[in-house]
Amino acid sequence: MTARHVPLRLGMVGGGAGAMIGNVHRIAARMDGHFQLVAGALSATPSRAMASAAQAGIAEDRSYDDYEVMATAEAARPDGIEAVAICTPNHLHYPVARAFLRQGIPVICDKPMTATLDEARELAALVEATGTLFVLTHNYSAYPQIRLAREMVARGDLGRIRLVQVEYAQDWLTEPSESKQAEWRVDPARAGAGGAIGDIGTHAFQLARFVSGLRPDRIAADLSSFVPGRRLDDNAHVLMRYADGARGMLWCSQVAPGTENGLRLRIYGDKAGLEWAHEVPETLWFTPFGAPRQKLRRAGPGTTDAVARGSRVPPGHPEGYLEGFGNIYAEAAEAIRARQEGTPPPTDLALPGIVDGLEGLCFIDACIRSQAADGAWVDLMPGPTA
Ligand SMILES: NC(=O)c1ccc[n+]([C@@H]2O[C@H](COP(=O)([O-])OP(=O)(O)OC[C@H]3O[C@@H](n4cnc5c(N)ncnc54)[C@H](O)[C@@H]3O)[C@@H](O)[C@H]2O)c1
Repeated sequence: MTARHVPLRLGMVGGGAGAMIGNVHRIAARMDGHFQLVAGALSATPSRAMASAAQAGIAEDRSYDDYEVMATAEAARPDGIEAVAICTPNHLHYPVARAFLRQGIPVICDKPMTATLDEARELAALVEATGTLFVLTHNYSAYPQIRLAREMVARGDLGRIRLVQVEYAQDWLTEPSESKQAEWRVDPARAGAGGAIGDIGTHAFQLARFVSGLRPDRIAADLSSFVPGRRLDDNAHVLMRYADGARGMLWCSQVAPGTENGLRLRIYGDKAGLEWAHEVPETLWFTPFGAPRQKLRRAGPGTTDAVARGSRVPPGHPEGYLEGFGNIYAEAAEAIRARQEGTPPPTDLALPGIVDGLEGLCFIDACIRSQAADGAWVDLMPGPTA
């Protein structure tokens, strides 16, 4: 007999009215019926928190003004939340995650994981000490064709990897902006030390790492702030060297007019290559040397069972950003349920988590160190005292 599917109780911090990613999390969480939003501290402004909660269908007594109060109160309820989504500006990720992890509540946090590398290390230690699930929403790594690309690299379809090219270009910060989203992203106190490298460079870095299976040893970064007065980078060119001789290049920009969410990954080995672009996410190009290029479509030939799990409708009915996010939530639900039932999680889960977050902060830190030395080569992972 199949067990009755009861949605997990979800809480949310951030993501109030007018926010960008909170609503994406809400859609993704309920897409497959795995979660029901029941509690939230949706805004730092109490009246806005309450109004936003009402809009999201949260009961008045479970709308909180303060995430610390929420963590304690929810942990004390028999029907308390079973996971929390963190959708605040970056500087709050660590304190909010800490408050819920200390109560043993699984965390689904947006990126970059924390505002500083020290916080990332402390968070990693806390996740280990509490043994609580921590998921980081590097949502691009949950697209079916990205999962397929990863499988193809792992089984050697490309041969030995030589080249990793990844870019994420946007244009929305080409001029000074007063928008709610821009305002904190250009403030080091709330965004952290990285501008574009933290906001979208970490996505590009994680995607290349996820698909190639390779982590660069050394990087050299050239960061720019093109908009006068901007205190954080809005463009970065980063060279990457891998231990086995592979070479990589990462470009991220928020000042490239005409680009939207131009995330693009190309990986070439000594036998074949793979090319993928986020704005055409259902196509993965496989480019064997000396043979015709092959267009691999979502849910089409070549798809494996593990990849097919990330598709909801047949090819030709477009899926993309929201569904990729939904895949993260679906896998998070599987992982949470497995823990609740004391069973091992399915082996094919490829959820991004604390390691991706820590490496993302190492990437930001290495870019800043390299930039400070006029683009010198630096180790990606700093020593304990670096
Ligand atoms: N994975 C992705 O594709 C993706 C896309 C966009 C943003 N993000 C990440 O999501 C996070 C939020 O970005 P955004 O663009 O939605 O920002 P936003 O400014 O639109 O929203 C932030 C929300 O946090 C709330 N908030 C601020 N302080 C709070 C507090 N003390 N308690 C409760 N709520 C508080 C704000 O009121 C607002 O509702 C960032 O870390 C960003 O990097 C990820």
